[in-house]
Amino acid sequence: MSVLVVGSINADITVRAERIPGPGETVLGQGARLSPGGKGANQAVAAALAGAAVRMVGAVGRDAFRDVALAGLQRSGVDLSDLQILDAPTGLALITVDPAAENAITVASGANTLLSPAHLPERLDGFTHLLLQQELGPEVTLAAARHAQASGLRVLLNAAPARSPDPELLQHVHHLIVNEHELAEFSGGSLTVEASALEAAARNLLTCGPDTATVTLGALGHLTVTSGQTLRFMAHPVTPVDTTGAGDTFCGVLAARLDQGEALHAALQAAGVAASLTCTRAGAQDAMPHWAEVQARLGT
Ligand code: RIB
Ligand code: NA
Repeated sequence: MSVLVVGSINADITVRAERIPGPGETVLGQGARLSPGGKGANQAVAAALAGAAVRMVGAVGRDAFRDVALAGLQRSGVDLSDLQILDAPTGLALITVDPAAENAITVASGANTLLSPAHLPERLDGFTHLLLQQELGPEVTLAAARHAQASGLRVLLNAAPARSPDPELLQHVHHLIVNEHELAEFSGGSLTVEASALEAAARNLLTCGPDTATVTLGALGHLTVTSGQTLRFMAHPVTPVDTTGAGDTFCGVLAARLDQGEALHAALQAAGVAASLTCTRAGAQDAMPHWAEVQARLGT
């Protein structure tokens, strides 16, 4: 069985600096690092490293950044037969990472915004899960979700970057994954970390369509609610270097383990451990753990 990812493909330019600059400010940083990124591609690579067969639907341009953007997908054996090469710049992300391993990201979407419903595969047999994010145009994301749901796939939406949700899209989503900022966006309110308020806010997401909702909380772990249960996980303790790609690792590994028939609890546990390992190294795809490393940490 396999996982289908419909999402963004970027080249990332990362600079480590003393702090993330504010408006009108210049900060001096260290040498730039060029590496493959994009939330869609990151999730596809994470899923492949966790042992899934993965197909990625996305778009890049004809420029020099294309090779950088595709390197991780190619290296991890992701099926790129639906890749579109279009007359637009390859997506490019400008990332600043501070000494606390936090980041600020600006994305020039380029070719990603030209991916259209016409580029989606017609037949979805063999796929168990569709993984979506919010870095493409809303039209293609909605079309992919609708088609996948009608074809019997389970649809996972990582509502990143934070953006007010399309109510129709949520009707086609089974499992919604958000971080605390994205949860605040959904709840139309402020950030909350208090346990019972957090669970209530997560549970509230289930009234929009999904049957399962996960909130990732960085160093505070993650929480998943379904109509019948609440699953809480502590963070796997690590010393963070660069948190870029951690959320993407979580989503990719989760989809991969579910695709392989693992129960929700075990898949979530593996996703959390893999995400924390991604924080211990520079870059997004370049930092992701192989399955053996996750297994070793899980003690299985
Ligand atoms: O989630 C991290 C990713 O966000 C980066 O790789 C960057 O390309 C942006 O899409
Ligand atoms: Na990282």
